[in-house]
Amino acid sequence: METKIITELTRDNLQLVAHALRHGDVVAIPTETVYGLGANGLDADAMDKIYAAKGRPSDNPLILHVPNAESIKPLVKEIPETARALIEAFWPGPLTITLPKSDLVPDRATGGLARVALRCPDHAVCRNILELAGVPIAAPSANISGRPSPTTAQSVYDDMNGRIPYIVDAGICTIGVESTVVEVRDDGVTILRPGGITKEMLEQVVDNVSYDPFLSSQNEAPKAPGMKYKHYAPDAPMRAFIGNPKDVAEAFSNVIREQDTKRGAFLVSQETYDLLKDSVHGEFHVYGHSGDAVALAHDFYKTLHHFNECDVDYILAEGVVNTGLGVAVMNRMEKACAGHIIYL
Ligand code: TXA
Ligand code: MG
Repeated sequence: METKIITELTRDNLQLVAHALRHGDVVAIPTETVYGLGANGLDADAMDKIYAAKGRPSDNPLILHVPNAESIKPLVKEIPETARALIEAFWPGPLTITLPKSDLVPDRATGGLARVALRCPDHAVCRNILELAGVPIAAPSANISGRPSPTTAQSVYDDMNGRIPYIVDAGICTIGVESTVVEVRDDGVTILRPGGITKEMLEQVVDNVSYDPFLSSQNEAPKAPGMKYKHYAPDAPMRAFIGNPKDVAEAFSNVIREQDTKRGAFLVSQETYDLLKDSVHGEFHVYGHSGDAVALAHDFYKTLHHFNECDVDYILAEGVVNTGLGVAVMNRMEKACAGHIIYL
């Protein structure tokens, strides 16, 4: 199968992909978080094609994407007051809510779970396609399972060429890390996966927001099945350091000396780059100022894909503190490093 990248986002082209989606094809679509691998969320055979294209374990449930809040009514048993408040505050946007599913939703979408995950993306092209398709679109991130998620059409193409008919190219994703997944309970909200909507933002709207205990103690089973898998790994081994730029630059220098003639790639803040640039040779990517979690989120996956292209031997990254969007980025970075994070 030849994979076509659609760059002209005309009504005709969006109709074409919406039609393909509605009739059982898998199409990569842009969102504000990462690119998704979409298929008709009411069609079990179409969703099977997603699992095949990604090489994804089939117990890992999918998020159903809708063009507006109204569209979730037939997909759920009820919409509790807390969920309504979250939808009102954060949709369209990077918040995925799990609610008890109706009979209309196939078990294939939920991996047999009683709840379905729902999200309305804050992306005009995406919502346009969802509206034209007229069915909820199941969409995991459009990477091969275990590899970094894609934030550009080119990154999707690198993983999916030959596996799907179309990729809709709407440029780089603005947020760069996946949506926050929450479970709504009667007495509050549990964050199953940190993402684009932060805990602090949720607390502005609802009482009693907590993280799934799995996120701090890996002894627990995660409530979002996908959280247990190895994820986001670049080809080269990666280590991360968090601290002030002077300490980070020193830690990097020590590792670089140990690695000797090996080729390194460095994801750093501007301040750390300024300290290293005269003494270190290698592939640098500067994401922004020290501590800027938003800038790091935007560039993170894109840079891992770029480092894969450069064929480097090892990667060093400068992390940010665990607050705000930093929680979501550091969750991905920790997995990309297989836990090799050092707080200086
Ligand atoms: O930003 C995003 O959420 C992107 C874009 C494409 O929308 N999608 C995405 O999908 O990240 P995926 O499949 O890569 O991750 C979905 C996560 C997984 O960890 C999965 O286990 C969890 O959500 N999940 C899905 N349905 C669930 C459910 N019913 N209960 C608990 N966790 C669920
Ligand atoms: Mg994913």
